[in-house]
Amino acid sequence: MDKFIIEGGRVLHGTLPVAGSKNAVLALMPATLLAPGIHRIRRTPNLRDVWTMSRLLTTLGAHVELDASGELLLDTRSITCFEAPYEHVKKMRASIYVLGPLLARYGQARVSLPGGCAFGPRPVDLHLKGMEKLGAEVTIEHGYIIARASRLRGAKIHLDFPSVGATVNILYAASLAEGDTILTNAAIEPEVTALARMLVAMGAQIEGIGTSTLHIHGVPALEPAATIENIPDRIEAATLLIGAAMTRGTVRLTEVNPYHLGTVLDKLEQVGCTLDVNGNTIELQCERELSPVDVITAPYPGFPTDVQAQWAALMLTVNGTARVTDTIYPTRFGYVPELQRLGAHVEVVDNTAIVHGGSRLQGATVMSSDLRASASLVLAGLVAEGRTEVLRIYHLDRGYERMEVRLRQLGAQIERVQTDEF
Ligand code: EPZ
Repeated sequence: MDKFIIEGGRVLHGTLPVAGSKNAVLALMPATLLAPGIHRIRRTPNLRDVWTMSRLLTTLGAHVELDASGELLLDTRSITCFEAPYEHVKKMRASIYVLGPLLARYGQARVSLPGGCAFGPRPVDLHLKGMEKLGAEVTIEHGYIIARASRLRGAKIHLDFPSVGATVNILYAASLAEGDTILTNAAIEPEVTALARMLVAMGAQIEGIGTSTLHIHGVPALEPAATIENIPDRIEAATLLIGAAMTRGTVRLTEVNPYHLGTVLDKLEQVGCTLDVNGNTIELQCERELSPVDVITAPYPGFPTDVQAQWAALMLTVNGTARVTDTIYPTRFGYVPELQRLGAHVEVVDNTAIVHGGSRLQGATVMSSDLRASASLVLAGLVAEGRTEVLRIYHLDRGYERMEVRLRQLGAQIERVQTDEF
């Protein structure tokens, strides 16, 4: 087990390249099951979730290797198993992404139900309804999804909620279905667009990419694309910009796509940060007093639920009260009691954290409960007086590559320490 030890009070400054997107590559990796062959994905971040997905694909029969340059090689020529066991799915919900490809390419899949996670229930009903609409027979037995289909057929599918995961699974399956699929109210997150573009590069016929209505004309087979380039991680970028704002620093991010951060950048400007966006770089400076700004999460291009915990930490550093509302995961506030240990004045009412900012934060030992909660605690440790220890850093390592190294490069005093504290 690792923990971070942080000495607060340092101002972040400097330039960093943004890493490749975790949530995009977790959708790109299972797509390789649709086309037996050798696939390459560049700019793959070296993260726990990537290792988990690699292990899952390996149990299916794939060969997966990530080299030092971030190029992921996937050989899917000998897929012999069609089951995603509970041991993988319980670690990472995105394991359900193998459902669509296995069903479409091999006509069968046995995938453990993901169960819940630290911030609440994580249903998959929209995934299953999508597979059934495409002609699959889906049953639930002993905690597993059992899906079978001799040949999937195109269908009209409307998502009650623009679910990222359901959109991803339907895209995989419809690409090899017989006939046309019209998917309405599809998720339009950049990660979904990245997958659609990869599938097209593999020979899929998809229209409306980037919009909430996708028209997929099924094809008999797909081929491995030439090397696929992963997109930058918009959530890591948002986290680093918020850290810079909290310490009143000046940070420049490179190799980022500013369009993927639209609402977050607007909100940072409303708070009073100065942002200079130029091509694939974003520079943030804090030249004046910052003010509290409310956020309400929403599907893309709204404010990301994956950034609400970090935003609450930022609001602790400005005088006044801000409301942080999560409409997507209404109970995703596991980080609040830990922030309170640092002296934060925050209370949760229904699906809103009410943050009373401006009080001095004092270092303490705090415990990560999930990936983005862990990020929020690390950011708060950067500004708390004295020493903060953040336990259970394995949560953070799921979605941020060597965060301590990257923050040290920006001037933070932070180190990773092995511990048997749990
Ligand atoms: C993706 O999860 C992301 N994960 C999450 O990021 C992110 O928080 C989420 O999208 C929302 O943006 C990956 O991309 C791997 P959803 P996903 O299906 O696909 C409800 C992180 O921190 N829903 O869009 O699971 C669901 O309960 C992670 O990187 C159903 O009701 O999200 C939620 O309220 C955490 N039925 C809403 O939709 C379903 O079948 C959003 O879920 C599916 C979802």
